[in-house]
Amino acid sequence: MITKANRLQHVKEYYFSTKLREVRQLIAQGKPVINIGIGSPDLDPPMAVSRALQQTLEKNHIHGYQSYQGIPELRNAIAHFYQRHYNVTVHPENEILPLMGSKEGIMHISMAFLNPGDEVLIPNPGYPTYTSVTNLLGAVPVYYDLVEENNWFPDLEKLSKTNLSKVKMMWINYPHMPTGSKPTKKLFEQLIIFAKQHQVLLINDNPYSFILNDTPKSILEINGAKEVALELNSLSKTFNMAGWRVGMLLGSQEHITTVLQVKSNMDSGMFYGIQQGAIAALKSDINWFVNVNAVYKKRREIAFSIAEALHCTYDKDTAGLFVWAKLPKGKKATAVTDELLYTYNVFLAPGTVFGSNGEGYIRISLCVPEETLAQVLKRLTK
Ligand SMILES: Cc1ncc(COP(=O)(O)O)c(C=O)c1O
Repeated sequence: MITKANRLQHVKEYYFSTKLREVRQLIAQGKPVINIGIGSPDLDPPMAVSRALQQTLEKNHIHGYQSYQGIPELRNAIAHFYQRHYNVTVHPENEILPLMGSKEGIMHISMAFLNPGDEVLIPNPGYPTYTSVTNLLGAVPVYYDLVEENNWFPDLEKLSKTNLSKVKMMWINYPHMPTGSKPTKKLFEQLIIFAKQHQVLLINDNPYSFILNDTPKSILEINGAKEVALELNSLSKTFNMAGWRVGMLLGSQEHITTVLQVKSNMDSGMFYGIQQGAIAALKSDINWFVNVNAVYKKRREIAFSIAEALHCTYDKDTAGLFVWAKLPKGKKATAVTDELLYTYNVFLAPGTVFGSNGEGYIRISLCVPEETLAQVLKRLTK
């Protein structure tokens, strides 16, 4: 038996990877399981995306390795997108690094900046990958609390009073997954001040700013942000392109070059056709966002009713692909989601997947058609 690397000691298989295997087994046994647990958009990308990919396939000489930094047209399209939607200027030459999804960026950034033993501030609740990647590299996750009473914002004053001498990086993710909390300019300003004071690299993971949110914000809007901050963004949710694997990292030339030092040793560029599809998506006009959000709004109304059927409370003014619902006092998240799965054949995510502060909450995905959500509601209210 070949032994596993020590670095896997603290990393479990991703929750959804194991749980969805179980869901598939239940379906194979004939159980009519409805999955409202995951955030993989079911809607199609803009028409222009598939067309752009098809057109590239008719060209010659497109099948070779591509630039490690993405083709210049893609970086230009990203720069225009940031200018148009966030009023942020990033130089296409050296302040943008296209990625194969933002998830890989979490690993590349961490490999580029962390040494074993370095501490990393991670939101609780938060996206589990920040923790797994930190652990894989022998760095140390240090969780900061996000609580409903503080609008799921970090208490920076409290955090400043702790020993931050070993902290090298801090993950933030606004609009926040799983809670949907939207950032304010003031929050971003305070975070940049905090990062400068404590010499911490601040990374905003920003894949949800166009979903159910009229005021998309970037951490890079803040004056002087590039000195200490990076931003990850993604086409997965904004343009329903999760399977295409297109994301991007933005920040100062110095930081981007450091991350490229890792990334250029790990892959050999993104397929040309995918990059052309991404360019077409980034050029979408405002109707794209309006139409997609109209669909999500209708779905969200039913998701609110599902939350009510489960006697949950919830905040209506949130962004992103989920409804984050608070269970009645005393109810445990996994007990409720297991009961829903085994009794009602409904799979949704327990808040504890995202950390201990997710206890007492469940997450309902908006990535299924209205009729499917209505079916769930029917099962729960019958
Ligand atoms: C907070 C957060 N960050 C990053 C990702 C990964 O997105 P991508 O598809 O760009 O890798 C997700 C996906 O669910 C997410 O919820």
